[in-house]
Amino acid sequence: MIEIADTVKKAREIISGWKKQGLTVGLVPTMGYLHDGHMSLVRKAREENDKVVVSVFVNPMQFSPNEDLEQYPRDFEADTKLCSENGVDLILHPVPEEMYPEGFCSFVDMTGPTAELCGKSRPIHFRGVCTIVNKLFNIASPDRAYFGQKDAQQLAVIKRMVKDLNMPVEIIGCPIVRESDGLARSSRNKYLSAEERKAALILSKSIFLGKEMADNGEKDARKICQEMRKLIETEPLARIDYVEAVDFTNIQKVDTIDGETLFAIAVYIGKTRLIDNFIVQAKS
Ligand code: PAJ
Repeated sequence: MIEIADTVKKAREIISGWKKQGLTVGLVPTMGYLHDGHMSLVRKAREENDKVVVSVFVNPMQFSPNEDLEQYPRDFEADTKLCSENGVDLILHPVPEEMYPEGFCSFVDMTGPTAELCGKSRPIHFRGVCTIVNKLFNIASPDRAYFGQKDAQQLAVIKRMVKDLNMPVEIIGCPIVRESDGLARSSRNKYLSAEERKAALILSKSIFLGKEMADNGEKDARKICQEMRKLIETEPLARIDYVEAVDFTNIQKVDTIDGETLFAIAVYIGKTRLIDNFIVQAKS
């Protein structure tokens, strides 16, 4: 039977009971409105741990005032059902007032990997992400935590935070889950009208084009980005935020494919900002 903890105290009681029995814990941090992308992380966590915790918390700290915090989709009943069907043991579902009580003033801030891509377009975003993920780690004491490559910069940032701050948790990255037509699954796809949903396919099309160029031996990252950009610009409803190639570990811009290179895009379809990416390994 799945358990739901809406307070930190309750979550700690349950998890410390497991730890006393020597059981391992896998944590999947989410903002809810769960879909098969989230569930792929849950399934991986299920394989690798005795107990699986999913946190469902729309974290106000990672949204700027002009962003979609208020409209962000929520459906806790459907989330609970999906978690239950996928063998989750505990949902941590705290309220903002407990996570950020009056007087809250401690943050985890990162330079380096947060400077480019989404960090540039959303200046306070990763401070909010690092702070909440740190809090979730302190509450759930996971042995392993699962993050999607869908948010590749977030994955790199969390790996860096854990390394820099000696956090006793293993970070596991999981591949992007897509709809059958190629669109990367995202809670924000809900915002798209039927017309926008069709237009949004330009993101995955440009990702597949870039990947094909790289797979065929093109090493010039700028040339690949240029072709991806040109393709996106053929879609009238699309407005590019960025199309960039960076080193996947430190998220600094690169001109040539070298080591693990991340090609990342952020594109507005109407008012909805969507992201997608692919990673290539330089052939030696
Ligand atoms: P959220 O957007 O709900 O995503 C939760 C996790 O699911 C992230 O690790 C994300 O990369 C992964 N995910 C989402 N869509 C995916 C897809 N199509 N394929 C594979 N994985 C996918 O990311 C956040 O929440 C928040 O920033 C959070 C880490 C919870 C901190 O608030």
